Amino acid sequence: MKLNPALKNRSLMSLNDFSDEEMLELIDLAIALKERRDNGIRGDLLSRKNFALIFEKSSTRTRCSATIAAQDEGGCATYLNGNDIHLGAKESVKDTARVLGRMFDGIMFRGFAQDTVEKLREFSGIPVWNGLTDDFHPTQILADLMTMKQCFGSVKGKKLVYIGDGRNNVANSLMLGCAKAGVNYVNCTPPELNPLPELVEHARKIAAKNGSTVEVMHNPEEAVVGANALYTDVWVSMGEEAKKAERLKLLAPYQITMDLMKKTGNADGELIFLHCLPAFHDDQTTASKDTGALEVTDEVFESKYSKVFDEAENRMHTIKALFVSALANKDEFETK
Ligand code: CP
Ligand code: NVA
Repeated sequence: MKLNPALKNRSLMSLNDFSDEEMLELIDLAIALKERRDNGIRGDLLSRKNFALIFEKSSTRTRCSATIAAQDEGGCATYLNGNDIHLGAKESVKDTARVLGRMFDGIMFRGFAQDTVEKLREFSGIPVWNGLTDDFHPTQILADLMTMKQCFGSVKGKKLVYIGDGRNNVANSLMLGCAKAGVNYVNCTPPELNPLPELVEHARKIAAKNGSTVEVMHNPEEAVVGANALYTDVWVSMGEEAKKAERLKLLAPYQITMDLMKKTGNADGELIFLHCLPAFHDDQTTASKDTGALEVTDEVFESKYSKVFDEAENRMHTIKALFVSALANKDEFETK
């Protein structure tokens, strides 16, 4: 497969950083890289490339995806816990960026402020990828769209309904990603958790260009009619723990149940369940043992509709696509 020279050295702050075509191209690249790995090829596209992973918040998927993505192709990832380095405390983000930019080839950042990841990009001089901030989670959405493509063959014209906290990082990026891919997107949320109107307007303009729609609704039973994918996320995002009681109360009517899945009117083959994970689905080994299932029931989570572990695996292939497109040593690669 040939790599697109226009994607060399590109950063990802939000999905706005790539054109609609480039975003879809990254998903196709991830599918090709998955095939390459499935065929047993661990290549050298990222040989001797060094990746700094700066994480202020916890992570299983994003951290491991970035580590394996680099290692699979001969690169090396260094995990830097936000509490262990000087970032933002003893040393400014700007100075940290200038130091790391002298040593590493790329930086992935996960943390609180969008401004931090943008400063890292501005001052490091190397590609920087947003691995989740309070505002956006763009690498997640590449994996979500890849999973939809694998399930349905194509994503354009499909309907995805996100149900839950309508103004969090995942919801914001998902709205934009769906609009760019021509997926009909519904954000079903309590009015108190509506997404920012300017983000909705921006996504609507992009969707209109791609022949799709962006809607905000409040009634789950009405929202899900005709859906091909129901998507949810935690009700309390990292950093918002103080709002837990309020959120559980607000979002209780927004749990994804098998009854709600049925109300889509779509059957197996036309309908999937997605969740970025981690999920509160009444798994007795997690924090949900105190609350029971929250955003999704165990019945849905463990059902044939649930593609959450394909989606989790796809985090790695899509992050690899970002790394390879930006930093590969070669212009093309074999998948067999
Ligand atoms: N979905 C996701 O970003 O998972 P982690 O928090 O485990 O990285
Ligand atoms: N909205 C969640 C996503 C976790 C991957 C959070 O920010 O905690």
